[in-house]
Amino acid sequence: MALQSKTKPKKILVIESTCDETAAAIVDEQLHVYGSVVASQEHLHEKFRGVVPEIAARAHVERIIPVIDETLQRSGLTLADIDAVGVANTPGLAGSLLIGLVAAKTLAMTLNVPLIAINHLHAHIYACRIASGRDIFPCVGLVVSGGHTHLYRCQSGATFELLGGTIDDAAGEAFDKVANMLRLPFPGGPALSQLAEQGNPAAHRFPRSFLSEPDRLQFSFSGLKTAVRYAITGPGGADPTQVELSWQQQADLAASFQEAVVDCLVDKSLRALQITKLNRLCIGGGVAANKRLRQRITEECHSDGIELMIAPMALCTDNAVMGGLAVEHLQAGKFADLDLDITAGLVR
Ligand code: KG4
Ligand code: ZN
Repeated sequence: MALQSKTKPKKILVIESTCDETAAAIVDEQLHVYGSVVASQEHLHEKFRGVVPEIAARAHVERIIPVIDETLQRSGLTLADIDAVGVANTPGLAGSLLIGLVAAKTLAMTLNVPLIAINHLHAHIYACRIASGRDIFPCVGLVVSGGHTHLYRCQSGATFELLGGTIDDAAGEAFDKVANMLRLPFPGGPALSQLAEQGNPAAHRFPRSFLSEPDRLQFSFSGLKTAVRYAITGPGGADPTQVELSWQQQADLAASFQEAVVDCLVDKSLRALQITKLNRLCIGGGVAANKRLRQRITEECHSDGIELMIAPMALCTDNAVMGGLAVEHLQAGKFADLDLDITAGLVR
């Protein structure tokens, strides 16, 4: 909860470099956002149809200082105004995380201000707090991104309990891979969901993992991906990108695939709400930008009397504003040491 301080609210410079976006933002204790910059690397990874870790790390090296400079300029502030530095140090690509961490540590040391470690997945959920201006705790949090699909019981800005997640591909990863099979541009999620609007979601009945196991708060999208592949090629295992499909066939595959993913996300989120007996759901991450997911979960939550908060489009994909979660740590006096390391894999 934001502190109502009589003195000037403290300002945190937040740095985000977990994957292929170099971002910085300045947020104060009252969650006022002074300025935010996101430098996307999409065009660098496009021809590889996926994020190439070494290219991402090198691009962060080039962009990190200009992005911080521009954030200060847009905010009308200087480094002397900064009271703490926050950095997303987990999870993500190791090389990418290290660039943001080294920049953050250097600033914290030279400015002699505290360093705050931010969990990138918790921050995706916290985007709902920043955007709404209202308290979101306690809630069930769903993070649906390119790298993660996870459900949390969120008690406070400092207490996120992992309830379950994907056992293989993340939802966004499945979107991107199926989009590849359909030869859609990278990143595939937005292109596939646009195509799906013209397709029939009932054209193919693709598998929905774990829906028959209501107590299992897990996802699996790998079998779904394979089912789409076989629907394109037949069981022979040919290269799906070499199969000629009509535009309508592509749209039907996209719509049927999207419907299967959305069914799983909606079902397990509602189940998590029942299990935790909570009545607020907060959703963040790149896939939260998906129109069909937004529509379906809005309908379901409305009929179940659940308060739904979805991060606004601009705060769904990676950005540093959501790292305003650092304010919660600042107010709890939870600071990191200067020997803080990164953790690339999932931490709870
Ligand atoms: O949160 P994010 O920017 O990065 C990670 O932390 O992974 O999410 C990126 C992912 C990509 O897989 C992208 O295809 C997906 O979000 N995405 C979408 C949509 N917009 C972005 N997936 C489905 N529908 C969308 N409209
Ligand atoms: Zn993310």
